[in-house]
Amino acid sequence: MSLFRVALPALAVVGSAYAASCSNSATSTIQNGGDATAIASCTTYSGSIAVATGLADDIALDGNLKKIDGDLVLESNSDIKRFGSSSLQSISGKLTLNDVSQLAALSFPALTEVDELTLKGLPNLRALEFNLTKADKLDIENTKLQNLDGIDLDEVSSIFIANNDDIASIEMQVTNITEFITLSFNNAMVNVSFPKLESANNISFRAIGSLNIPVLSKINSGSFGVFESDNLESVSAPNLTKIDGALVIDNNKGLKNISFASLTDVGANLQIANNTNLHQIDGLPKLKNVQAALDMSGNFSKVETPSLDYVKGVFNLQSTGDIGTVCDDFYNPLKAKGKLQKGKYVCQGKLEEANTAGSSPKSGSGSGSGGDKGAAVGLAVPSISLGLVGLAAVLLL
Ligand SMILES: *[C@@H]1O[C@H](CO)[C@@H](O)[C@H](O)[C@H]1NC(C)=O
Ligand SMILES: *[C@@H]1O[C@H](CO)[C@@H](O)[C@H](O)[C@H]1NC(C)=O
Ligand SMILES: *[C@@H]1O[C@H](CO)[C@@H](O)[C@H](O)[C@H]1NC(C)=O
Ligand SMILES: *[C@@H]1O[C@H](CO)[C@@H](O)[C@H](O)[C@H]1NC(C)=O
Ligand SMILES: *[C@@H]1O[C@H](CO)[C@@H](O)[C@H](O)[C@H]1NC(C)=O
Ligand SMILES: *[C@@H]1O[C@H](CO)[C@@H](O)[C@H](O)[C@H]1NC(C)=O
Ligand SMILES: *[C@@H]1O[C@H](CO)[C@@H](O)[C@H](O)[C@H]1NC(C)=O
Ligand SMILES: *[C@@H]1O[C@H](CO)[C@@H](O)[C@H](O)[C@H]1NC(C)=O
Repeated sequence: MSLFRVALPALAVVGSAYAASCSNSATSTIQNGGDATAIASCTTYSGSIAVATGLADDIALDGNLKKIDGDLVLESNSDIKRFGSSSLQSISGKLTLNDVSQLAALSFPALTEVDELTLKGLPNLRALEFNLTKADKLDIENTKLQNLDGIDLDEVSSIFIANNDDIASIEMQVTNITEFITLSFNNAMVNVSFPKLESANNISFRAIGSLNIPVLSKINSGSFGVFESDNLESVSAPNLTKIDGALVIDNNKGLKNISFASLTDVGANLQIANNTNLHQIDGLPKLKNVQAALDMSGNFSKVETPSLDYVKGVFNLQSTGDIGTVCDDFYNPLKAKGKLQKGKYVCQGKLEEANTAGSSPKSGSGSGSGGDKGAAVGLAVPSISLGLVGLAAVLLL
């Protein structure tokens, strides 16, 4: 059912003097209801369509229109409240709604396919009436959407969903994300579920409430990061075997459990830091190779990586808690065998402060088993969390 319950006055002028031209090599601008009616009389419209910034009437591209071979853009308009089309099925280019402060209804119930969907700066938009299954790029920022009902993509190259305070759930049946997925500062309790996702490239989750990625098996290029998720209790990727880039799990205050039961290879740094309530690292049973630094710091009482065989970069394990004899029994012998680098090695428990690689450990009273204390740890550890700081700041504007 369409959200457009009232017949819009501007559309009453059907059949007026507007000659229906169904193609335009330049962008056509909808200046009034008549222009909209003319475009909607075409079955396929070839060309891009923009809505005038000063237009205050609601726009419904209802009629014959099934396809736009081009873009449809509504941008920088502070008056329009409703926008949509009950007949439109596909847009070969972009559907962009950007900075439309009064927009409260967006209704494209027949639209299944667009190339890029951008919904940005829509502070009055709480719900979508969509039925979208194909989109290459999805970008949703600064809206009041409560959920993403109506957007369920099979395959997508990139997903960027940020600063939507009210989105309580992000769930899609997508199997393959070929570029990146970034979810950042939506509802702090947002439930994230990608039950069929098998392969993805860069994954970055910030401030999420729960995560379900049961069949994810590969990060083909890029990294996997989980940050600042204070409500997240557990990160589990049971079928993930290889990460091309880094694995970074930092600053998640509520995190109690990290579990990557099948993970064998990490192509860059593996960093676990500032997860205040994480006391056990025992969820990396098959981890074998880390191609840059392995950097774990925190208040741990148990650390176990039984299959670890090679770390190319710095090895840093610092804990304020008592990690028992794991340094003596496991990591020191591994270092002696040349599987961990000698000059760039720290393994200590019962510290006063546990720091990331590059910072010397600060000893407590009963300093635990050694390692090369205060060894000059030369290798810088670029964290993907730092790289995204600037981005987050921009988004918060
Ligand atoms: C959504 O589109 C599919 C076809 O792609 C159709 O079968 C389904 O009925 C549509 N759902 C709604 C709510 O319109
Ligand atoms: C996420 O799911 C949990 C458990 O089902 C629920 O308690 C919580 O309210 C959900 N989060 C949101 C934001 O609705
Ligand atoms: C994911 O998509 C890429 C590019 O289309 C393709 O090469 C790859 O085989 C796909 N992977 C899976 C698991 O479908
Ligand atoms: C886990 O991944 C492998 C391929 O790496 C696949 O064969 C298997 O079906 C996956 N298991 C699940 C439960 O998805
Ligand atoms: C994904 O990761 C690759 C490799 O680390 C990087 O070169 C690329 O810029 C990243 N892409 C995005 C969109 O973040
Ligand atoms: C951590 O999570 C994994 C996977 O969900 C689970 O099998 C394991 O029992 C959990 N460990 C603890 C200590 O809760
Ligand atoms: C850990 O937290 C401290 C204090 O808030 C901060 O200075 C440091 O940069 C954090 N480390 C990481 C890796 O985010
Ligand atoms: C480490 O965790 C234990 C158990 O939760 C707690 O008692 C202790 O105060 C913590 N230590 C630090 C330095 O946070």
